[in-house]
Amino acid sequence: MHLENATALITGGTSGIGLAVAKTLASAGARVAVTGRDERRLAEAARAAGAHPIRADVTSEADVERTYREVFNAFGHLDILVNNAGFGVFKGLVDMDRASFDAVFATNVTGAMLMAREAARHFIERNRGNIVNIASTAALRGAAGGSAYYASKFALRGMTECWRAELRPHNVRVFLINPSEVLTSFSATAGLTQDENPTKLRGEDIAHAVKAALEMDDRGFTPELTVFATNPRG
Ligand SMILES: NC(=O)c1ccc[n+]([C@@H]2O[C@H](COP(=O)([O-])OP(=O)(O)OC[C@H]3O[C@@H](n4cnc5c(N)ncnc54)[C@H](OP(=O)(O)O)[C@@H]3O)[C@@H](O)[C@H]2O)c1
Repeated sequence: MHLENATALITGGTSGIGLAVAKTLASAGARVAVTGRDERRLAEAARAAGAHPIRADVTSEADVERTYREVFNAFGHLDILVNNAGFGVFKGLVDMDRASFDAVFATNVTGAMLMAREAARHFIERNRGNIVNIASTAALRGAAGGSAYYASKFALRGMTECWRAELRPHNVRVFLINPSEVLTSFSATAGLTQDENPTKLRGEDIAHAVKAALEMDDRGFTPELTVFATNPRG
């Protein structure tokens, strides 16, 4: 597809990977809308990326429906949904609490489904469209402490395959991008420390992968891209 004048909606586009994707797609000429819950971060991101800001929580069905109303008001139609909003809680099974587990699934799984459902209804009508799901290398194999986060990304990967099977006959491409560790606010939000070594991936690297995948001619698509740092240290 050509990104020039394409329209894109990026959930969690106010920080880290989502913000980098917003800037990259906007630089390629796309009209971009970003969502997030924090008003201040949203305003700053909209300014930095030249994006249309939508204050919305992906876990709220009413917010999701309003998000699409705002996108259609601003752009008239949508070409690309990037399901990026997500966070992690890392606790061993014996310490896992129901509220943390449910919260991770509400954003990373249910939120992604609600966003994709509205996009799919629109894309089927138009007989075209693109959904990019930002999963993780956590979607590829389990690890200690991963009951909530890793399982949510396995679920996103599973839904990606289901949506692809349903939507390919409507010319809709569904991509999965699996970043390994990226320097963002993700670790701090999860209560973890992250060594800021320059050998580690940055949001721009994931944005590059998203842009490259989208830019392939619509007759084809790369179903899944996993992105590793070449030689990460620290
Ligand atoms: N960083 C990594 O190492 C890494 C690796 C693999 C995959 N990922 C995935 O990449 C995605 C982006 O993470 P990041 O690393 O860029 O983290 P980040 O810097 O913490 O960004 C997360 C973004 O999601 C938004 N968000 C969180 N919950 C939301 C909700 N319920 N509704 C709407 N927006 C919400 C946040 O804004 P508000 O808080 O203002 O809503 C923020 O814009 C996540 O899905 C994450 O799992 C990250």
